[in-house]
Amino acid sequence: MEIKIYKDKNEVAEQFSAYFVEKAGEHEAFHVALSGGSTPKIVFDVLAQNFADKVDWTKVHFYWGDERCVPPTDDESNYKMTVEHLFSKIDLPHENINRILGEKDPEGEAMRYANLLEIDLDRVGEVPQFDLVILGMGDDGHTASIFPHQIELWDAADHCVVATHPDSGQKRVSINGKVINTAKEVAFLVTGASKAEKVEAIIEKTEGSEVYPASLVNPKSGKLVWFLDEEAAVQLNQN
Ligand code: 6PG
Repeated sequence: MEIKIYKDKNEVAEQFSAYFVEKAGEHEAFHVALSGGSTPKIVFDVLAQNFADKVDWTKVHFYWGDERCVPPTDDESNYKMTVEHLFSKIDLPHENINRILGEKDPEGEAMRYANLLEIDLDRVGEVPQFDLVILGMGDDGHTASIFPHQIELWDAADHCVVATHPDSGQKRVSINGKVINTAKEVAFLVTGASKAEKVEAIIEKTEGSEVYPASLVNPKSGKLVWFLDEEAAVQLNQN
């Protein structure tokens, strides 16, 4: 596990974008799972504005680690956010975008998307392997759309599951822990003071932190890199 700490959200976005460009350049076909959330939104802006001409987008195949079960025009949609902040600003072939279509039949879509991943991606055993999975972390320690109240979904047999947001009850389709932990690289993008307590608990593996799904991110053979700003890292043991 590598922990990178930067001054603020913008520096996290700049540094992660440079990392993304480097990783994309290592692959003839780069399969990446995107995340929703406020930090990825800033990253997409920076990637589009400052790095767009440094990537051969024809080689980048975008998927999502999770998506809200809403139409692609809904402000809650991770797809909509990504189109607005990244896809609309780069020369990306439309066929390289693999949206989760959960708005009509979440359970059916979870099965379809799992099958798509198993066909499109290399596999380790039966588990589809992303080149890069980008994750955020909620204040409650959730990641992708695996929340503490449904932590059993992390080890679900199906590679994609239907989760529900603990407050709104909104349905979401999410990859499970097996897919996340099979990735070649996992990048956690976590910023802001509200994350500091969980970041410390999870990285320092304090007692009780196992209840947070984000604490279960531990790539079997892949690399885990935390991109943190100083606020999110403030409670980490710095020595
Ligand atoms: C989503 C994300 C979710 C997000 C966290 C952190 O669909 O919302 O996948 O897991 O990454 O909630 O979000 P912030 O970066 O906005 O705190």
